[in-house]
Amino acid sequence: MNKIEDLKMYFCVFCNCMNLIKKGLKYIRYFLFSKNRKGHGIHSPFVYGFVRNILNDKKEYEAYKIIENILYDLKNNNAIVEIENFGAGSKINKNLKRKISDLAKNNSIKKKYGRLLFRLVQYYKPQEIIELGTSLGISSLYMALASKSAQVHTIEGCKNTLNVAKQIIKKANISNIQYYNSNFDTILPDVLKKEKTFDLAFIDGNHKKEAVLKYFYLFKKYIHNNSILIFDDINWSNDMNEAWKIICSDKSVTVTINIFQMGIVFFRKESSKQDFTIKF
Ligand SMILES: C[S@@+](CC[C@H](N)C(=O)[O-])C[C@H]1O[C@@H](n2cnc3c(N)ncnc32)[C@H](O)[C@@H]1O
Repeated sequence: MNKIEDLKMYFCVFCNCMNLIKKGLKYIRYFLFSKNRKGHGIHSPFVYGFVRNILNDKKEYEAYKIIENILYDLKNNNAIVEIENFGAGSKINKNLKRKISDLAKNNSIKKKYGRLLFRLVQYYKPQEIIELGTSLGISSLYMALASKSAQVHTIEGCKNTLNVAKQIIKKANISNIQYYNSNFDTILPDVLKKEKTFDLAFIDGNHKKEAVLKYFYLFKKYIHNNSILIFDDINWSNDMNEAWKIICSDKSVTVTINIFQMGIVFFRKESSKQDFTIKF
Protein backbone atom coordinates (compact mmCIF):
# COMPACT_ATOMS: atom_id res chain seq x y z
CA MET A 1 0.00 0.00 0.00
CA ASN A 2 2.78 2.40 0.98
CA LYS A 3 4.65 1.59 -2.19
CA ILE A 4 1.58 2.51 -4.25
CA GLU A 5 1.27 5.82 -2.39
CA ASP A 6 5.00 6.47 -2.96
CA LEU A 7 4.65 5.67 -6.65
CA LYS A 8 1.66 8.02 -6.93
CA MET A 9 3.68 10.77 -5.26
CA TYR A 10 6.71 10.24 -7.56
CA PHE A 11 4.39 10.26 -10.55
CA CYS A 12 2.87 13.57 -9.40
CA VAL A 13 6.35 15.09 -8.92
CA PHE A 14 7.38 13.80 -12.36
CA CYS A 15 4.25 15.30 -14.00
CA ASN A 16 4.84 18.65 -12.27
CA CYS A 17 8.46 18.69 -13.49
CA MET A 18 7.35 17.88 -17.05
CA ASN A 19 4.75 20.67 -16.90
CA LEU A 20 7.39 23.12 -15.70
CA ILE A 21 9.76 22.13 -18.50
CA LYS A 22 6.98 22.46 -21.10
CA LYS A 23 5.97 25.87 -19.75
CA GLY A 24 9.64 26.95 -19.72
CA LEU A 25 10.01 26.00 -23.38
CA LYS A 26 6.83 27.89 -24.27
CA TYR A 27 8.18 30.92 -22.40
CA ILE A 28 11.48 30.83 -24.33
CA ARG A 29 9.50 30.77 -27.59
CA TYR A 30 7.34 33.69 -26.37
CA PHE A 31 10.43 35.64 -25.30
CA LEU A 32 12.17 35.16 -28.64
CA PHE A 33 9.21 35.90 -30.89
CA SER A 34 7.17 38.51 -29.00
CA LYS A 35 7.09 42.19 -29.91
CA ASN A 36 9.12 44.72 -28.01
CA ARG A 37 7.35 46.01 -24.89
CA LYS A 38 8.19 49.61 -25.77
CA GLY A 39 5.79 49.39 -28.69
CA HIS A 40 8.38 49.63 -31.50
CA GLY A 41 7.14 47.91 -34.63
CA ILE A 42 3.48 47.93 -33.58
CA HIS A 43 1.53 49.62 -36.37
CA SER A 44 -1.93 49.52 -34.82
CA PRO A 45 -2.50 52.88 -33.02
CA PHE A 46 -4.94 51.16 -30.67
CA VAL A 47 -2.41 48.52 -29.60
CA TYR A 48 0.43 51.04 -29.51
CA GLY A 49 -1.71 53.09 -27.09
CA PHE A 50 -2.35 49.98 -25.02
CA VAL A 51 1.39 49.31 -24.75
CA ARG A 52 2.39 52.90 -23.97
CA ASN A 53 -0.46 53.83 -21.63
CA ILE A 54 -1.22 50.56 -19.87
CA LEU A 55 1.63 48.05 -20.14
CA ASN A 56 4.31 50.70 -19.61
CA ASP A 57 2.57 52.80 -16.98
CA LYS A 58 5.13 52.64 -14.14
CA LYS A 59 3.32 54.93 -11.70
CA GLU A 60 3.05 53.60 -8.13
CA TYR A 61 -0.67 53.95 -7.42
CA GLU A 62 -1.83 54.23 -3.81
CA ALA A 63 -4.19 51.27 -4.32
CA TYR A 64 -1.24 48.95 -5.06
CA LYS A 65 0.05 49.53 -1.54
CA ILE A 66 -3.35 48.81 0.05
CA ILE A 67 -3.87 45.55 -1.85
CA GLU A 68 -0.31 44.33 -1.54
CA ASN A 69 -0.33 44.87 2.23
CA ILE A 70 -3.45 42.70 2.38
CA LEU A 71 -1.73 40.09 0.23
CA TYR A 72 1.35 40.18 2.45
CA ASP A 73 -0.80 39.47 5.53
CA LEU A 74 -2.58 36.62 3.74
CA LYS A 75 0.75 35.07 2.77
CA ASN A 76 1.55 34.91 6.49
CA ASN A 77 -1.84 33.62 7.61
CA ASN A 78 -1.66 29.96 8.67
CA ALA A 79 -5.39 29.45 9.26
CA ILE A 80 -6.80 26.44 7.42
CA VAL A 81 -9.63 26.56 4.88
CA GLU A 82 -11.41 23.44 3.76
CA ILE A 83 -11.76 23.94 0.03
CA GLU A 84 -13.96 22.34 -2.59
CA ASN A 85 -12.14 21.65 -5.81
CA PHE A 86 -13.74 23.27 -8.82
CA GLY A 87 -12.49 23.41 -12.37
CA ALA A 88 -9.14 21.87 -13.34
CA GLY A 89 -7.84 22.13 -9.73
CA SER A 90 -4.34 23.02 -8.61
CA LYS A 91 -1.30 21.39 -10.23
CA ILE A 92 0.73 22.13 -7.11
CA ASN A 93 -1.39 21.18 -4.11
CA LYS A 94 -4.19 18.60 -4.29
CA ASN A 95 -4.90 18.77 -0.56
CA LEU A 96 -8.41 19.96 0.31
CA LYS A 97 -7.32 21.45 3.63
CA ARG A 98 -5.27 24.43 2.63
CA LYS A 99 -3.57 27.20 4.55
CA ILE A 100 -4.70 30.69 3.59
CA SER A 101 -1.01 31.46 3.07
CA ASP A 102 -0.83 28.68 0.49
CA LEU A 103 -3.92 29.95 -1.38
CA ALA A 104 -2.49 33.46 -1.33
CA LYS A 105 0.85 32.27 -2.74
CA ASN A 106 -0.47 29.86 -5.36
CA ASN A 107 -4.01 30.91 -6.32
CA SER A 108 -4.03 34.68 -6.05
CA ILE A 109 -2.99 36.83 -8.96
CA LYS A 110 0.68 37.87 -8.97
CA LYS A 111 1.40 41.53 -8.22
CA LYS A 112 2.57 42.29 -11.77
CA TYR A 113 -0.67 41.05 -13.34
CA GLY A 114 -2.95 42.43 -10.61
CA ARG A 115 -1.44 45.84 -11.26
CA LEU A 116 -2.03 45.35 -14.96
CA LEU A 117 -5.72 44.58 -14.28
CA PHE A 118 -5.89 47.75 -12.21
CA ARG A 119 -4.44 49.82 -15.07
CA LEU A 120 -6.72 48.19 -17.65
CA VAL A 121 -9.79 49.11 -15.60
CA GLN A 122 -8.46 52.56 -14.86
CA TYR A 123 -7.76 53.25 -18.54
CA TYR A 124 -10.81 51.74 -20.28
CA LYS A 125 -13.25 52.57 -17.45
CA PRO A 126 -15.50 49.51 -17.75
CA GLN A 127 -18.64 49.81 -15.61
CA GLU A 128 -19.86 46.21 -15.55
CA ILE A 129 -17.06 43.80 -14.73
CA ILE A 130 -17.52 40.05 -14.37
CA GLU A 131 -14.90 37.84 -12.79
CA LEU A 132 -14.89 34.04 -12.90
CA GLY A 133 -12.84 32.83 -9.89
CA THR A 134 -12.73 35.03 -6.78
CA SER A 135 -10.52 32.87 -4.54
CA LEU A 136 -9.33 35.28 -1.79
CA GLY A 137 -10.54 38.32 -3.72
CA ILE A 138 -7.18 39.82 -4.67
CA SER A 139 -7.89 40.35 -8.38
CA SER A 140 -11.40 41.61 -7.47
CA LEU A 141 -9.72 44.23 -5.27
CA TYR A 142 -7.34 45.38 -8.03
CA MET A 143 -10.31 45.91 -10.36
CA ALA A 144 -12.69 47.43 -7.78
CA LEU A 145 -10.10 49.92 -6.52
CA ALA A 146 -9.25 51.04 -10.05
CA SER A 147 -12.68 52.57 -10.53
CA LYS A 148 -15.14 53.32 -7.76
CA SER A 149 -17.95 53.68 -10.31
CA ALA A 150 -17.43 50.16 -11.66
CA GLN A 151 -19.37 47.20 -10.33
CA VAL A 152 -17.37 43.97 -10.01
CA HIS A 153 -19.49 40.81 -10.12
CA THR A 154 -17.27 37.99 -8.91
CA ILE A 155 -18.19 34.30 -8.92
CA GLU A 156 -16.62 31.60 -6.73
CA GLY A 157 -17.75 27.99 -6.27
CA CYS A 158 -15.97 27.30 -2.98
CA LYS A 159 -18.05 28.73 -0.15
CA ASN A 160 -15.30 28.70 2.49
CA THR A 161 -12.79 30.47 0.27
CA LEU A 162 -15.41 33.06 -0.68
CA ASN A 163 -16.16 33.67 3.00
CA VAL A 164 -12.50 34.55 3.57
CA ALA A 165 -12.61 36.89 0.55
CA LYS A 166 -15.74 38.57 1.86
CA GLN A 167 -14.09 39.27 5.22
CA ILE A 168 -11.00 40.71 3.55
CA ILE A 169 -13.01 42.97 1.25
CA LYS A 170 -15.29 44.11 4.09
CA LYS A 171 -12.25 45.01 6.17
CA ALA A 172 -10.86 47.02 3.26
CA ASN A 173 -14.16 48.93 3.15
CA ILE A 174 -14.84 48.25 -0.52
CA SER A 175 -18.46 48.42 -1.61
CA ASN A 176 -18.39 47.90 -5.38
CA ILE A 177 -17.89 44.12 -5.35
CA GLN A 178 -20.86 41.79 -5.62
CA TYR A 179 -20.30 38.10 -4.80
CA TYR A 180 -21.94 34.98 -6.15
CA ASN A 181 -21.32 31.61 -4.54
CA SER A 182 -22.00 29.13 -7.31
CA ASN A 183 -20.56 27.06 -10.08
CA PHE A 184 -19.78 29.35 -13.06
CA ASP A 185 -21.81 27.07 -15.32
CA THR A 186 -24.93 27.53 -13.23
CA ILE A 187 -24.82 31.23 -12.50
CA LEU A 188 -22.98 32.93 -15.36
CA PRO A 189 -25.96 32.71 -17.78
CA ASP A 190 -28.19 34.33 -15.12
CA VAL A 191 -25.71 37.10 -14.30
CA LEU A 192 -25.31 37.93 -17.99
CA LYS A 193 -29.06 37.81 -18.61
CA LYS A 194 -29.65 40.17 -15.70
CA GLU A 195 -26.87 42.62 -16.59
CA LYS A 196 -27.74 42.42 -20.34
CA THR A 197 -24.15 43.27 -21.32
CA PHE A 198 -20.68 43.59 -19.78
CA ASP A 199 -17.68 45.82 -20.36
CA LEU A 200 -14.86 43.64 -19.06
CA ALA A 201 -14.64 40.01 -17.97
CA PHE A 202 -11.72 38.29 -16.27
CA ILE A 203 -11.78 34.51 -16.66
CA ASP A 204 -9.56 33.01 -13.99
CA GLY A 205 -10.92 29.57 -13.10
CA ASN A 206 -11.73 26.20 -14.65
CA HIS A 207 -8.73 25.98 -16.96
CA LYS A 208 -10.12 23.33 -19.29
CA LYS A 209 -10.50 23.84 -23.02
CA GLU A 210 -14.23 22.96 -23.18
CA ALA A 211 -15.04 25.12 -20.16
CA VAL A 212 -13.06 28.15 -21.38
CA LEU A 213 -14.67 27.94 -24.82
CA LYS A 214 -18.10 27.52 -23.27
CA TYR A 215 -17.60 30.75 -21.25
CA PHE A 216 -16.21 32.53 -24.31
CA TYR A 217 -19.28 31.67 -26.44
CA LEU A 218 -21.57 32.66 -23.60
CA PHE A 219 -19.86 36.02 -23.06
CA LYS A 220 -19.87 36.57 -26.83
CA LYS A 221 -23.67 36.73 -26.83
CA TYR A 222 -23.51 39.80 -24.57
CA ILE A 223 -20.60 41.80 -25.99
CA HIS A 224 -20.69 45.32 -27.34
CA ASN A 225 -18.06 47.00 -29.49
CA ASN A 226 -15.83 47.91 -26.51
CA SER A 227 -16.18 44.77 -24.41
CA ILE A 228 -12.92 43.23 -23.26
CA LEU A 229 -12.26 39.62 -22.28
CA ILE A 230 -9.17 38.67 -20.32
CA PHE A 231 -8.19 35.01 -20.03
CA ASP A 232 -5.67 34.05 -17.39
CA ASP A 233 -3.22 31.15 -17.74
CA ILE A 234 -3.41 30.76 -21.50
CA ASN A 235 -0.15 28.79 -21.33
CA TRP A 236 -1.11 26.67 -18.31
CA SER A 237 -1.57 23.54 -20.46
CA ASN A 238 -1.86 22.43 -24.08
CA ASP A 239 -5.62 22.45 -23.52
CA MET A 240 -5.49 26.15 -22.65
CA ASN A 241 -3.24 26.87 -25.66
CA GLU A 242 -5.79 25.23 -27.93
CA ALA A 243 -8.66 27.19 -26.40
CA TRP A 244 -6.71 30.44 -26.85
CA LYS A 245 -6.02 29.68 -30.54
CA ILE A 246 -9.71 29.00 -31.18
CA ILE A 247 -10.67 32.26 -29.44
CA CYS A 248 -8.12 34.24 -31.50
CA SER A 249 -9.51 32.82 -34.74
CA ASP A 250 -13.15 33.56 -33.89
CA LYS A 251 -14.76 35.89 -36.48
CA SER A 252 -16.14 38.30 -33.86
CA VAL A 253 -12.69 38.89 -32.36
CA THR A 254 -10.58 41.64 -33.92
CA VAL A 255 -7.53 42.35 -31.74
CA THR A 256 -5.90 39.87 -29.39
CA ILE A 257 -2.90 40.55 -27.17
CA ASN A 258 -0.92 37.64 -25.78
CA ILE A 259 1.37 38.56 -22.88
CA PHE A 260 2.10 34.88 -22.05
CA GLN A 261 0.36 34.75 -18.66
CA MET A 262 -2.81 36.35 -20.01
CA GLY A 263 -4.65 36.75 -23.28
CA ILE A 264 -6.65 39.93 -23.87
CA VAL A 265 -9.44 39.99 -26.43
CA PHE A 266 -11.07 42.99 -28.13
CA PHE A 267 -14.07 43.09 -30.46
CA ARG A 268 -13.72 46.67 -31.80
CA LYS A 269 -15.06 46.80 -35.35
CA GLU A 270 -12.81 49.77 -36.21
CA SER A 271 -9.66 47.64 -35.72
CA SER A 272 -8.54 45.18 -38.38
CA LYS A 273 -8.10 41.59 -37.31
CA GLN A 274 -4.65 41.05 -35.80
CA ASP A 275 -3.06 38.92 -33.08
CA PHE A 276 -0.21 40.48 -31.11
CA THR A 277 2.29 38.77 -28.84
CA ILE A 278 3.94 41.39 -26.66
CA LYS A 279 6.72 41.10 -24.08
CA PHE A 280 5.57 42.01 -20.61
C1 LIG B 1 -6.95 30.89 -9.72
S1 LIG B 1 -8.25 31.03 -8.56
C2 LIG B 1 -8.80 32.69 -8.77
C3 LIG B 1 -7.82 33.70 -8.25
C4 LIG B 1 -8.37 35.11 -8.18
N1 LIG B 1 -8.92 35.55 -9.43
C5 LIG B 1 -7.23 36.06 -7.79
O1 LIG B 1 -6.39 36.29 -8.65
O2 LIG B 1 -7.15 36.54 -6.68
C6 LIG B 1 -9.54 30.15 -9.36
C7 LIG B 1 -10.80 30.03 -8.50
O3 LIG B 1 -11.86 29.62 -9.36
C8 LIG B 1 -12.71 28.74 -8.65
N2 LIG B 1 -13.38 27.90 -9.67
C9 LIG B 1 -12.79 27.12 -10.61
N3 LIG B 1 -13.72 26.53 -11.37
C10 LIG B 1 -14.93 26.95 -10.94
C11 LIG B 1 -16.27 26.71 -11.35
N4 LIG B 1 -16.54 25.91 -12.38
N5 LIG B 1 -17.26 27.31 -10.67
C12 LIG B 1 -16.98 28.13 -9.61
N6 LIG B 1 -15.74 28.40 -9.18
C13 LIG B 1 -14.71 27.83 -9.83
C14 LIG B 1 -11.79 27.95 -7.74
O4 LIG B 1 -12.49 27.47 -6.61
C15 LIG B 1 -10.70 28.98 -7.40
O5 LIG B 1 -10.93 29.57 -6.16
